[in-house]
Amino acid sequence: RVVAVILAGGSGQRMGLSTPKQLLKIAGKTILEHTLGVFEDAPEVDEIIVLMNPGFLQDAAECVKKAGCTKVTAVLPGGTSRNATTQLALDALADHPAETTSVLFHDAVRPLLSQRIIRDCVTALREHRAVDVAIPSADTIIQVDEDVIVDVPRRANLRRGQTPQGFRLATIRAAYENAWRDENFEATDDCTVVLRYLPDTPIYVVPGDEHNMKVTEPVDMFVADKLFQLASSDAPDLTEEQYAEALAGKTVVVFGAS
Ligand code: CTP
Repeated sequence: RVVAVILAGGSGQRMGLSTPKQLLKIAGKTILEHTLGVFEDAPEVDEIIVLMNPGFLQDAAECVKKAGCTKVTAVLPGGTSRNATTQLALDALADHPAETTSVLFHDAVRPLLSQRIIRDCVTALREHRAVDVAIPSADTIIQVDEDVIVDVPRRANLRRGQTPQGFRLATIRAAYENAWRDENFEATDDCTVVLRYLPDTPIYVVPGDEHNMKVTEPVDMFVADKLFQLASSDAPDLTEEQYAEALAGKTVVVFGAS
């Protein structure tokens, strides 16, 4: 059984609005509705649970309804950190069998996730106990200590992590059990928890997608809106090359003109 866990417990401080960014609308729907729709449509996913910012549970339930989600079994309050939210999801899945359940943790604010990524994650989980999704980095990544460079890791070995991150339920449970025993435990994702607290578990990496962006800053709303426009059924069928050109602003795409 495959369960998708939608992490929507955050408040979107970097977006700078009083409404959490997962409830902002892009292309006529909230970001959360878009994300729910992708998992609803994925044949590999049997069940969805949503962990929402506690002040906005009713709004999340509304999104589930609007997205016509039949796979959602629970809308629950998230925690004070992303990892606390993951733990609450694990608690909610306490009655699921640990070895035969796989979980896909996904940032609610990555609404442009593709079916291909979900499929690749679920396929990889048949062989691996932990799976990450990542893309190469176009930028050089520098390591700093108080604004001074201490290292520049080889770019060819670097990837930018996305979500979903997939695990056998037994693996992610065990990793979190160990993590909470460490009083200095701090992480921004779930693969780091497995890497640090269950270090003998290899984490397989499947290719992500540039479109699977995380809506974080105001400018991301603009970019995501453009990507939705291009992906909409009104858009003409573009070759990969034309698409890249359109994205770069070199050509103008006329919607509805195909
Ligand atoms: N998240 C969560 N529970 C938290 C914090 C974050 O479920 N306590 C979720 C967010 O809702 C988001 C994902 O984790 O879907 C990625 O986090 P991020 O982009 O950092 O979201 P926010 O924490 O909302 O943003 P910010 O850091 O700007 O406040």
